Amino acid sequence: MNERKIKTAVLISGGGTNLQALIDAQKSGIIKHAEICAVISNRADAYGLERAEKAGIPHYVVEKEKTVKDPSGKPDENDSRIKQADFERKIVEILKSSGAELIVLAGFLAILSEDFTRLYPERIINIHPSLIPSFCGKGYYGLKVHEAALSYGVKVTGATVHFVNEIPDGGKIILQKAVYIKEGDTPEILQKRVMEEAEWELLPKALELVSEKMLKKSV
Ligand code: GAR
Repeated sequence: MNERKIKTAVLISGGGTNLQALIDAQKSGIIKHAEICAVISNRADAYGLERAEKAGIPHYVVEKEKTVKDPSGKPDENDSRIKQADFERKIVEILKSSGAELIVLAGFLAILSEDFTRLYPERIINIHPSLIPSFCGKGYYGLKVHEAALSYGVKVTGATVHFVNEIPDGGKIILQKAVYIKEGDTPEILQKRVMEEAEWELLPKALELVSEKMLKKSV
């Protein structure tokens, strides 16, 4: 049967293990209502680009140019705004040309402004490696999230998939899964366990949920 699928762009910055989980879930049939139409990385050296290449998915690099400094040595805010707008414009061009209807941030660690997020209300989903509202928002990404959870001393952490809006990690929650912290955990050990036990399961499930809903609305 040739059912319509929601064209989905996946944005990455690094290893791309969550992208791999999506690719695998598409192959195994866990994801039935979405297809990855493009992978965009904000870093040319992201290993996730190789994963996309191996899976035969069109992939692109869009890097944000470095902000120049003002005479006092601080980043020039105006220049930063221009470069952010340019960065986002290039991403939007790729999204449009690839026909993407939905965007997944799978370890995409660059900032997207409100100008960008308001173009796609409830059409951007993000995976965050904690139970939101703990250890989230500005400055909490990657290993830093697990460092913060361990230094606070929580006994349970996890992962959250949520819609992206103008508030960092503040959009509506789609799915969450808890992961227990164990004696002797380091940020690296915890990061791996949260990925294995929660992220790689949750992100494909969330993409399937959202894309199925989108298709039902369009009939
Ligand atoms: C993942 O743990 C993801 O949850 C996290 O970055 C890692 C990317 O790994 N994202 C954030 O911290 C977003 N705030 P991956 O490149 O192997 O998927």
